[in-house]
Amino acid sequence: MINEKMEKAFNDQINAELYSEYLYLSMKAYFETLNLPGFVNWMNVQIQEEHAHAMGMFDYVNSRGGRVILKAIDCPQTDWDSPLAVFEHILRHEEHVTSLINGVADVAEEVKDRAALSFLNWYIKEQVEEEDNVGKTLATLRRVGDDAHGLYALDKELATRVFNPPVIE
Ligand code: FEO
Repeated sequence: MINEKMEKAFNDQINAELYSEYLYLSMKAYFETLNLPGFVNWMNVQIQEEHAHAMGMFDYVNSRGGRVILKAIDCPQTDWDSPLAVFEHILRHEEHVTSLINGVADVAEEVKDRAALSFLNWYIKEQVEEEDNVGKTLATLRRVGDDAHGLYALDKELATRVFNPPVIE
């Protein structure tokens, strides 16, 4: 049976992951207005990844005999000044999510839940990948600046991203 404090930390993180999904959905809507299908595709993959992150924890809480309690999802930002501003926002957001995941791991350590700590290792590694991935695209966007050809080339590249359902265990 999962500890009550641990259960609450997971429930809060499920909410944070669903908020991430909602935020990327809002960014997808923004890129639809810019007519950049590659960026839209990138967001589509990100939306599915965040949903998988939330569901991984949802299933884990249940497998430990806990109770998932869903809460309201905050309203996401709906407009940005540029694709660069979006990716700056994403990096800030993912750094924040990393700190939240570390906080859940801190609770697992505090209540000596080694199984939860082991489960959370997947998320800790995933955040390293997320920040790295976003950081690279952000660096490209900074180089591209206002160059339309550069943005077009990046859009083509982002169109190739595919969703590989993660195995979270
Ligand atoms: Fe679920 Fe983007 O972290």
